[in-house]
Amino acid sequence: MTEAWRPEDDEPRGVSGPVRVRVPAKINLHLGVGPLRQDGYHELNTVYHAISIHDELTARRGDTLTLTMAGEGTGELALDESNLVIRAARALARSTGVPPHARLHLRKQIPLAGGLAGGSADAAAALVACDALWGTGLSRDELAEIAAGLGSDVPFLIHGGTALGTGRGEAVSPVLARPTVWHWVVAVAEGGLSTPVAYRELDRLRAARAAGPPLGSTDTLLAALRQPDPGVLAAALGNDLQDAALALRPSLAATLKAGEAAGALAGIVSGSGPTCVFLATGAADAEGIAAELDALDVCREARTAHGPVAGARIG
Ligand code: C5P
Repeated sequence: MTEAWRPEDDEPRGVSGPVRVRVPAKINLHLGVGPLRQDGYHELNTVYHAISIHDELTARRGDTLTLTMAGEGTGELALDESNLVIRAARALARSTGVPPHARLHLRKQIPLAGGLAGGSADAAAALVACDALWGTGLSRDELAEIAAGLGSDVPFLIHGGTALGTGRGEAVSPVLARPTVWHWVVAVAEGGLSTPVAYRELDRLRAARAAGPPLGSTDTLLAALRQPDPGVLAAALGNDLQDAALALRPSLAATLKAGEAAGALAGIVSGSGPTCVFLATGAADAEGIAAELDALDVCREARTAHGPVAGARIG
């Protein structure tokens, strides 16, 4: 992809100081799930949207590759070679021919296994941070290509904003949208849901015909993004994995109902769940809905967020 790094042409490359990268969580405004493919993935037709809940990854020079973590749920995350951050750093090193040496520290705010692509976000942050630390100078598209090998959502988190995802979700293209800021309430559930388990449950429900009809095209959602009324966007939101998440976690039905009763324009399960997200009319409404959800005890924690925001960025 790029020319290999050679020590002899090493005018000091990269930076000596720490590189700090912020990376957002994602939600899917439309998650259309097609049939199961030969490779074990489902064909997707999705509209990704990056929201203002961030993880932060700091990369420093080191003699080996190490990772430490603090924050949301990090006691549950493996710090070994299976961790997506470590795999991302190694993949970038391999592809550019540099030694994979860095001390990485991750501060997590995105819930684990929540349907918000937290692990994928951290992998995207590691690619951007190590690229700057090592001075490998890849373009966003080149980073996104490496990202696709790490997970279906990782390329989107390099780009951010609102974007169309096809293939297994890794083929990302920009969408034409008004510069509207949308206000969300994010109801974080107790515990997580496994993404492969949610997809398998959808296949099972479809085989038994207990799942709703597939969402189909993204046209209505894309048209809703070109106008300013959150009510129109609310009516266009949809997620084919929602039936599966509700079957696996029936209590989410009460969370969705409570958010809508509290004044949300619409609520959906985020990705494979169990996080639920609600579209609000504005920032103040979002605060009110979050306070009400917290008081009702229908989720672990309700947070407010806005979108779209940028993908993994230094600073
Ligand atoms: O790509 P990623 O590693 O994040 O996917 C995790 C799992 O989710 C896959 O192993 C697969 O079971 C499921 N998946 C899927 N179809 C997709 C994306 C993910 O079935 N398009």
